Amino acid sequence: MAGYSIPTTERSTEAAYQQCLNPSCSATFGIDEAHFSCPKCGDLVDVVYDWDRLPVPRALSDFEAKWSRRLDPLCFSGVWRFRELLPFAPADRIVTIGEGQTLLQRADKVGAFVGMSTGNLMLQYEGMNPSGSFKDNGMTAAFTHARMVGARRVACASTGNTSAALAVYCSATDHGFKAIIFIGSGKIAYGKLAQALDHGALTVQIVGDFDDAMTRVREVSDRLGIYLMNSVNPFRLEGQKTIMYRVLEANGWEVPDWIVVPGGNLGNSSAFGKAFIELKHLGLIDRVPRLAVINAAGARTLNELYSAREVRWRSGLADSAKIGAFYNELDASGVKASTIASAIEINRPVNLKKCLRALEFCDGVVRQVSDQQIMDAKARVGAGGLGCEPASAASVAGAKLLREEGVIAPSDRVVCILTGHQLKDPTATVAYHGADQENFEKVLGSRGVRRAGFANRPVIVPNDLDDIIRTIALYSEAESAGA
Ligand code: F0G
Repeated sequence: MAGYSIPTTERSTEAAYQQCLNPSCSATFGIDEAHFSCPKCGDLVDVVYDWDRLPVPRALSDFEAKWSRRLDPLCFSGVWRFRELLPFAPADRIVTIGEGQTLLQRADKVGAFVGMSTGNLMLQYEGMNPSGSFKDNGMTAAFTHARMVGARRVACASTGNTSAALAVYCSATDHGFKAIIFIGSGKIAYGKLAQALDHGALTVQIVGDFDDAMTRVREVSDRLGIYLMNSVNPFRLEGQKTIMYRVLEANGWEVPDWIVVPGGNLGNSSAFGKAFIELKHLGLIDRVPRLAVINAAGARTLNELYSAREVRWRSGLADSAKIGAFYNELDASGVKASTIASAIEINRPVNLKKCLRALEFCDGVVRQVSDQQIMDAKARVGAGGLGCEPASAASVAGAKLLREEGVIAPSDRVVCILTGHQLKDPTATVAYHGADQENFEKVLGSRGVRRAGFANRPVIVPNDLDDIIRTIALYSEAESAGA
């Protein structure tokens, strides 16, 4: 199919190289160069492989051989045990801290909330990564590339998780990396800020939001020659492809019907699409899942462009006039992204075009969900097993919406990606469940959240043994009456 043809050797003498996404440019670069946009035309850059010259497994199940070699860090890592599918790095350059030990959990209680048949909803829990979010999948790959090109200072703009992961990789490894992170003022959840500070990153808080921080970090990196770790870095996305390999692995190499993922800067959705394009090209899967990308209503650029204005990939030429017009409208109205799901509080997603490619290849859909839907879904995820932060719950809220619309059938096999750990943002969780109405209004009411319908309120009891015992008895009775 045009637009995602897999390039061949003529383009380069290397089996792995970089290429501009813009079909009217298509410039190629060596793997030993660091570009965060095409130096010729400014578009996004892809990592591409000449698979004919690379040793590719005959079947995905061949990867199982790595399980018995878990003492080798490259077999232990949930990213690098799939090294043959991201073959850009010499083994002795790989930077790994054991990322990707994540799990695909069958979640029937959450499935019932979403409206799925028993056994058909699964949660891919990326909160189990060393820094507590999916970002580590990308960081291990980008740090590996940074090491290949001899970079020392590494920077990112972040809504919190990228910066946490960056700080962890700098502090947990011994290759002389120094972390510089840019955050918007008051825009980052405490759990994430705590990580950046604790792990010793130079934390630059600018007056503005994520979109402002992103613009600045690009300028600063350019000016000072600092290696950029945001997902405009194509090597980040190579690592994030492996989330999909692990979903397949945990599902006995069966392809599910749907992958549902929150959309912020659109790195994950782009990486997932690339993973499936390549797996299909290599004949390692015979069909692809459908992709659903879920925006928060307060940061709905993708949904507006894709669902309302019908912006499409168009072989890499993606309607740039329509995109530009929307951004001009945003600027003219002074609208800033605003959602309780601070991780995805982004109005100018840098990977928009790559995400459009993924949506086309995976017959994708895009939806937006309100902060009320996000917080309710988050509470159900917590009650049903693994906890997550608000942005992650957008995937479950989105799956529920698509179920209600009849786009997803109860019998479909659906995987929602839980991108970040519950403890990343305790403020939102405590405001939802807590009995403090003032706090609820301050944190959630201001975001349009009106009810905490699934709240598990703490019970306030006098410090008296009889009172405590009476309260427990009362709750046990209420529970068995409700059971
Ligand atoms: N979920 C969480 C928990 C995130 O931290 C992010 C992005 C997303 C979803 C969105 O993923 O950008 O691939 O669409 N966080 C970035 C950050 C922007 O700076 O930590 P995406």
